[in-house]
Amino acid sequence: MVQDEFTIRSATPGDEGGIAALFTGLDPESARMRFSHSVSTQELAALAALHPGTTSLVALHAGTVVGEARYERTDEGQPPELAMAVAVGRQGHGLGARLLAALRERARADGLLTLRAVVRTDNRAMLRLLRTTSTAIAAPVEEGEVVFDLATDDLMPPWPVGGPSRKVLIETRSLVDTPEVQALWEAGVEVRKCQGPTNEAGRTCPALEHGECRLADSADAVVSLLPQDDPTCRLIADDHAAHRGEALVARSQAEWRDAAPGLTE
Ligand SMILES: CC(C)(COP(=O)(O)OP(=O)(O)OC[C@H]1O[C@@H](n2cnc3c(N)ncnc32)[C@H](O)[C@@H]1OP(=O)(O)O)[C@@H](O)C(=O)NCCC(=O)NCCS
Repeated sequence: MVQDEFTIRSATPGDEGGIAALFTGLDPESARMRFSHSVSTQELAALAALHPGTTSLVALHAGTVVGEARYERTDEGQPPELAMAVAVGRQGHGLGARLLAALRERARADGLLTLRAVVRTDNRAMLRLLRTTSTAIAAPVEEGEVVFDLATDDLMPPWPVGGPSRKVLIETRSLVDTPEVQALWEAGVEVRKCQGPTNEAGRTCPALEHGECRLADSADAVVSLLPQDDPTCRLIADDHAAHRGEALVARSQAEWRDAAPGLTE
C-alpha cells in the first residue's frame, strides 16, 4: 500500500539491516520508549531480527526504512504484543498512525482480534495514538508501564477465554486506580478499564456508536467512574442499564463503594 511518499509493506528477512539502522538511529529517549530500558547498539541491532513468530511491517521512504511496527507472540494464552518505532526526524507527522492502522489490518486478516501493547506512562505519543483506537487497560500500572489490549476492529478486545468468572468493566480516564479497583485486581477479578463514551482523542465508545461492545456486552458489572458532571457519563450508564439489565451499573462513587465488596465475592 502506498500512502503519500511512504510505502508500507510486510518486512522480509532482507529488511533486517534497514530495521537495525532504524533502531540504532533512534535517540536515547525514543529507544527507551520502544524497548522500555536502555539498550546497547549491538543489542538494538539484534532486536531488529525477524523471528518465525514475528509479523512486521516496514515504512519505506526512498528505499530507507523510516518506520517499523511488529507483533510477536510472547506468553502462551496472551495476545501477541505489538511494538513500533518511527525514525526520529519523522515522528509526529502521522506515520505512526498509518503504521498502527496497517498493523491492525494485518492482524485482523491473520484472524487476530486482540493485540497487546505495553507502554510507558510517560510515552505521550503512543498513549495518544492508542486512544484513537479500541483499547482497554488490561493490568494495573506497574513500574511505569501500562498494558493495553487493542482490538483489531472497532468493537473493543474480547474478554480472555476461560478466565475467572467475574468480569468487571470500569469506565475511567485515569491510569491511576482507586482503592476499589485495586482490590478487584488483587482479588483476581478480570478487570478491564475503558475510557467511556468519548475521550480526548475524539474516539467514540463502540457501544454508543455501533450498539455493540465486546467488553460491556458480557461484563458481570459495568462501573462508571467518569466525573458525574460529565454529561457523557449519564449517557453511557443509562445505555448499559437499558441494554444489559443484569449488569451492575454504578453511576457514582457512593454506589460503587456499596457494590464493590460484592464484586470480589
Ligand atoms: C510512538 C510513535 C511510534 C508514534 O509515531 P508518530 O509518527 O510519531 O505518531 P503520529 O505522528 O502518527 O501521531 C500520533 C498521535 O500522537 C500525537 N503525538 C505525536 N508525537 C507526540 C508527542 N511527542 N507528544 C504528544 N503527542 C504526540 C499526535 O498528535 C497524534 O495524535 P492526534 O492524531 O490526536 O493528533 C513514535 O513517536 C516513536 O517511534 N516513538 C519512539 C518509540 C516508541 O515510543 N514506540 C512505541 C513503544 S510500543
